[in-house]
Order: sequence, then structure tokens, then C-alpha cells
Amino acid sequence: MGRGTPLSRRGGLALTVFGLTALVACGPDEPTGPGNVNNEGPELDAGLSARLAAHRMDGRIEEQLEVKLGRGVDDGLAEVGRLLFFDRVLSLTEDNSCAGCHGPNVSFNDAVSISIGVDNNLIVGEGRQGPHNLRRAPSVINAAFFPRLMWDGRFESLSLDPFDNSDGFAFPAPEGTSLSRLDHLLAGQAFTPVVSRIEMAGFDFVGNADDIRSEIASRVDAIPEYRQRFAEIYPAIDAGDPIDYDRIAEALAEFQFTLVRADAPIDWYARGDTSALTPSQKRGGILFFGFEAACFECHITEGYANQMFSDFKSHNLAVPQIRPVTTNADFDGPGDNEDFGFEHVSGDPGDRYKFRTQPLRNVAFQPSFMHNGAYVCLEDAIRHHTDVYTTLDNYSNTILPESLRGPMGPIQPMLDQVHALSAEPRDLTEGDIDDLVAFMHALSDPDAHPDRLASLIPASVPSGLPLQAFDFNRSPPSCN
Ligand code: HEC
Ligand code: HEC
Repeated sequence: MGRGTPLSRRGGLALTVFGLTALVACGPDEPTGPGNVNNEGPELDAGLSARLAAHRMDGRIEEQLEVKLGRGVDDGLAEVGRLLFFDRVLSLTEDNSCAGCHGPNVSFNDAVSISIGVDNNLIVGEGRQGPHNLRRAPSVINAAFFPRLMWDGRFESLSLDPFDNSDGFAFPAPEGTSLSRLDHLLAGQAFTPVVSRIEMAGFDFVGNADDIRSEIASRVDAIPEYRQRFAEIYPAIDAGDPIDYDRIAEALAEFQFTLVRADAPIDWYARGDTSALTPSQKRGGILFFGFEAACFECHITEGYANQMFSDFKSHNLAVPQIRPVTTNADFDGPGDNEDFGFEHVSGDPGDRYKFRTQPLRNVAFQPSFMHNGAYVCLEDAIRHHTDVYTTLDNYSNTILPESLRGPMGPIQPMLDQVHALSAEPRDLTEGDIDDLVAFMHALSDPDAHPDRLASLIPASVPSGLPLQAFDFNRSPPSCN
């Protein structure tokens, strides 16, 4: 993969990681006084190590990528994928790319709380403007390990292993199971953003999803550099076959394989380095995997979760329903300001307001949290879990930019069917919350920090279209 082994990268990084995370942190990283360590160290380490072992968290998932893939990452294909990811040629309107909503400057998350797709101002950052869509773009970092994709898990590997298509990949209509011919779930996913009218395709082109993909493939095929790069990888293209959308999707997936960043202090700790975490992070970890906070009930690490901290199932947490002032998406409900979530997949009103448990690696690098970015502070997102009633009472959309301060959706219908674990406030102290926030920072791979990803932005792309402007500066978030 062209990156160092986890152990060689470990040396010298333990100190920088806290400096890096502090840039985007709301929560404190407490000073680690020697008294603290001596008094609490062995007990904390025994408690946390036992919990990590019980939850099959061995800190070695990153090295499993190529094992699960059954081959090495193809550097040439990943390079074409990187160029395509940043190239506006994949957008029929030529004003968006994958990176427009999954920007390296925000750790491949969305720069805004609810995506802005077509008709944008070509800025990727706080200054991005245009009509908003429905949800926030989650980071594509580590998505290679997710058995279900999207906020409602609607793209699924039926074997619950994204690397194994033997039971098929299930997508909603019109794709259905037709993408099961591809090797990895991410290659299937790459078929969908380009045909979304609000995300990349725009409203002018006449034709169905297949027509859109054919049009994009022929535009890519007409660019000599793409032809040459694909020809070096696929003999059939070298022999004269046109580039089809399958090849484009495979390239995009291959690039995303190189975006695995799953070597965080929690992994160094799980591999035996007890100095990798602060005492506060250790206490937070014990809380996370304990019954008082019960985070582990949904943010699981074992088995098919691939140590990603998610059960990849959908649950209703009653997240505030924010509404853009201007949108080109279809919101739900009588007020046109709700998102029914997993109900759209299952058809069951009992699944209304449910969203996929979000994997938590690198969460501290995100500019916003939850499916709609309703929170811009990590601590607020955690408090939402531990006392939903107080958090909803105190919630104000004035923490968001004006373009997201439309009339909010109702709260009571969500609370009427909120998940049982959210129905009772948890018995946690302020110190406990601080420790949970600190533990979230222990899940940050220093190589997932925006500054370490800037070098992935190409100097230019083969279409010759100018790149979007990636703004690495962020103003400090205002917390509730
Ligand atoms: C207009 C913004 C936008 C663009 C452009 C865009 N995405 Fe996304 N992406 C999203 C949103 C929003 C979601 C979540 C949607 C949902 O859950 O309904 C998402 C989800 C994903 C996911 C699933 C991640 C997860 O955690 O499940 C992957 C992978 C992904 N996008 C890759 C891509 C690729 C590859 C491209 C370019 C071909 C792309 N995206 C273009 C907004 C965008
Ligand atoms: C009942 C299942 C469940 C439990 C228990 C749970 N979570 Fe979550 N968590 C979720 C779901 C579902 C989401 C996404 C909700 C949404 O976007 O609507 C989420 C989102 C998050 C997020 C925001 C992630 C992001 O990328 O936006 C954080 C942080 C988080 N959880 C931390 C915790 C912590 C810490 C605990 C323990 C105090 C916890 N969770 C307990 C289900 C759960």
C-alpha cells in the first residue's frame, strides 16, 4: 500500500497524535501526572485490556486489508481511482466530484452538515454554497471494511463481508442484486453517486441511470490519459475495448482501499503498548465497554464489525431533524422537514427515524456528527446519547450556518419510538462524559488528520477541468 507497517509508524507518533487531535477537539486531553498513572495504571489497564479482549479488539485490522482482499492493492488502478475521485468529469454538470462531498481537507467527510451537490460554488469547506441535499456524507476512510453502506445501510453485502460477494450485494431498485458481479461492495457503491441528479448528474440530461453511466464512461474514454492508464491495467482496453463504467467503479474502489486509516492509539494499546492512552482515555474505554454507558451495545468491534465500532444496524436515537432553507431533495412528513431513515428501506413504519450506527474510528476529525450533522461538537453528540431529553430541550439550530436553519421537524414522534437505551438517561458524571470524549480521540489514526491527507490532492486531473478549492481552515465549532 506504499505506507509503513503499523509498528514502524508507531515510533515517535504517540506525542503528535494528541497535538493533532487537539486542533479539532472540544474535549480535554487531561495531563497525565505520574501520580495518576501509578495509582490507577495497573487497575485501569487490567480492566480495559480484559474488555478489549472480550470484544475481540486486537488492534490488527489494518493489516487485514490485503488478507481479506486476497491480493495486494493495485497501485496503478488506485492511482486512476484517485484521479477520478477528484475529477469533475464524473459529474454530468461538471461541477462536482466525489471529493466535493468527501473532501481530504475534512478527512474525506462532508465539509457541510448536509451535502451540497450540483449547482455548488466549487468550494469544499465552510464556504461551500448551493442547494442542500438530505444527509451528511460520511467519511470514506475505512469504508472498505463496512458490510453495510449508507446511513440506512441500504447497500449491503449479504454475507456481511464487503470483500465476499458470494451471497450477493443487495441494493435498492433499480440496481437490485445486479452489482453482485463486482468483487467488493465499494465497487457497487461507486455506481450510485454519479446517477444521483442532486449529487452529481444534474437535471438536464435525458435518460435513465444506465444511460448516465454510459455517457460518463464515454466521456472518460475520450480522454487520452485515462485510456492510457486503464490500458496499462486491462489488456482488453489496451486491445481497443472502450472503458466501461465497471472499470471506473473498480478504480474508485481501489483508491478507497488506500484510504484505510485504522492504526490509532487504541490499536497500539490493544497490541500491548499501555502508554498509548492517557488515564482519561482508559477510563473512557472502560465506560464505553461497560454497562453504565453501554456504548458497546451498538458500537461493536467483534466479528463482522471488523473493529469499526458499529453493528451496522439501524436504530432510532431521536436526532434533531434539521432542515435546509433551500433544498433539492425530498424530505419526509407533513412539514417536508423529516427524514424517515430506515423505513425507506424496510417499508415498516416501526423503522421510522432509524439510522445506521455510525462507525467511530477517526470521529474526532469530523466537522459534524450524526446523519444530518445536527451537532458540530463531539461532546454534544455523546451527550445526545446519554440524556436525550435534556439535549433535545437545549438544542438550537443556531449552532449551524444560516442555510441549515429552516423549520425543524417534530421531536415527539421520534421520542415515541426511541431506542430503549436512549429512553432512560444514563447515570454518568461530568467526568465520565469527559472520559468518553477522550476515548473517542483514542480512535483517531494520526494519518487520518486532514494535514496528512493534503498530499492526496492531485496537481491536475486528466480531463483538464480545474480542481475544486479545498479549504483547510475551519472556525472553532460553537457547542450547544
Ligand atoms: C453530493 C455529495 C456527494 C457526492 C458528490 C458523493 N457522495 Fe458519497 N455520500 C454522500 C452522502 C450524503 C452519503 C450518505 C447517503 C445516505 O446515507 O443516504 C454518501 C455515502 C458514501 C459512501 C458510504 C459510506 C458509509 O459510511 O457507508 C461511500 C463509500 C461514498 N459515498 C463514496 C462516494 C464516491 C466514490 C463518490 C464519487 C463517485 C461519491 N461518494 C460522491 C454524498 C456524496
Ligand atoms: C442504541 C444504539 C447505540 C448506542 C447504545 C450508542 N450509540 Fe452512538 N450512535 C448510534 C447511532 C444509530 C448513531 C447515528 C445516529 C444518527 O445519525 O441518526 C450513533 C452516532 C454516534 C456518534 C456520532 C458519529 C458520527 O459520525 O456522526 C458518536 C460520537 C457516538 N455515536 C458515540 C457513542 C457513545 C460514546 C456511546 C455510549 C455513551 C454510544 N454512541 C452509544 C447508536 C448507538
